Amino acid sequence: MNNASRTHEGKTALVTGAGQGIGQAIAMALAKRGARVIATDLAAPEATVRNIGASAIALPLDVTREEDWHSVLLQSREIGDVDIVVNNAGYFPNRSIDELDLPTWRKTMATNLDSHFLSAKYFLPAMRKKKWGRFVGISSNMVGLAIPGMSHYIASKMAIIGFMRGLANDVASDGITANALLPGLTNTLATAAQSDEQKRSTWEQQAIKRLGEPEDITGAVLFLTGDDAAFITGQAIVVDGGQYRVG
Ligand SMILES: NC(=O)c1ccc[n+]([C@@H]2O[C@H](COP(=O)([O-])OP(=O)(O)OC[C@H]3O[C@@H](n4cnc5c(N)ncnc54)[C@H](O)[C@@H]3O)[C@@H](O)[C@H]2O)c1
Repeated sequence: MNNASRTHEGKTALVTGAGQGIGQAIAMALAKRGARVIATDLAAPEATVRNIGASAIALPLDVTREEDWHSVLLQSREIGDVDIVVNNAGYFPNRSIDELDLPTWRKTMATNLDSHFLSAKYFLPAMRKKKWGRFVGISSNMVGLAIPGMSHYIASKMAIIGFMRGLANDVASDGITANALLPGLTNTLATAAQSDEQKRSTWEQQAIKRLGEPEDITGAVLFLTGDDAAFITGQAIVVDGGQYRVG
C-alpha cells in the first residue's frame, strides 16, 4: 500500500458496535488507512481485531453505560488519545406506536443518542488539546422515509443530526468536526430477517439499484474523518444509493 492511501496514519479511532455489520466494516476501513483502532462492542469484538491485526484492540463498551465510557477512556490511553469517534452502535426494534413501551423508548434513546453525548464528554478534552478531532454519528436515511413502527428509532436518529449540528458549533474553534451519516438499507445481520422481496422493494427506490453493503458506508466515514473534510461540519450526509433526496 502506498503512503497516499495511509490517510489516517498517526490517528487513533474508536468505533462502537464494531463486532459486526457496518461498525466492523468501518473499523477495518479505518485500520486499512493506517489508523490505530479501538474496536468496541457489548462484548469485546475479538474477531474484528483478529481481522485487523496488531494495530487494533478490542474493548467491551456498552454505549448506554457512562462507567464503560470512562473505563474505555482510561484503557485507550495505552494506545493513544482518541482522535476519531465513530458512534455506530444502534438499537432498532420495530414497534408500532400502540406497542411501544417506555423501556423500549428509553433503551432506544440510551443506545442511539446518549452514546453521542457520552463520547463527547469523555473524548473531547484530548481532542481539544491536540486541536484536531472528528465525531461521526451513524444516523439513518429512515429519518426521511415513511416506514411504520419506527417512531422511537426515527426520533433518536433525527436527534443525532441535531446533536452533531449543535456539537459542531461548540468544538469548531479547536479543529474538531461533528457530522452525521445516514446509511440506507444495508446488508447486515440486523436486516437479515427481511425477505429478498422486502429488500428489493427498498433498493428499487434507489437510483443505484442494488442492496447496500457495509463496505458502501465506509468511504464517507473515511472522508469525514480525514484532513480533506476539515471544512465540513454540522452536516448530515446520506449514503443510500440515492433513495432519500434532500434540499
Ligand atoms: N443495516 C441497515 O440497514 C442500517 C441502515 C441505516 C442505519 N443503520 C445504522 O447503522 C448502525 C449499525 O447497524 P448494523 O446494521 O451494522 O447493525 P448490527 O445489529 O449488525 O450491529 C450493531 C452492533 O451494535 C452493537 N450494540 C447494540 N447495542 C449496543 C450497546 N448498547 N453498546 C454497544 N454496542 C451495542 C451490537 O452488539 C452489534 O454488534 C446502527 O446505528 C443502525 O441504526 C443501519
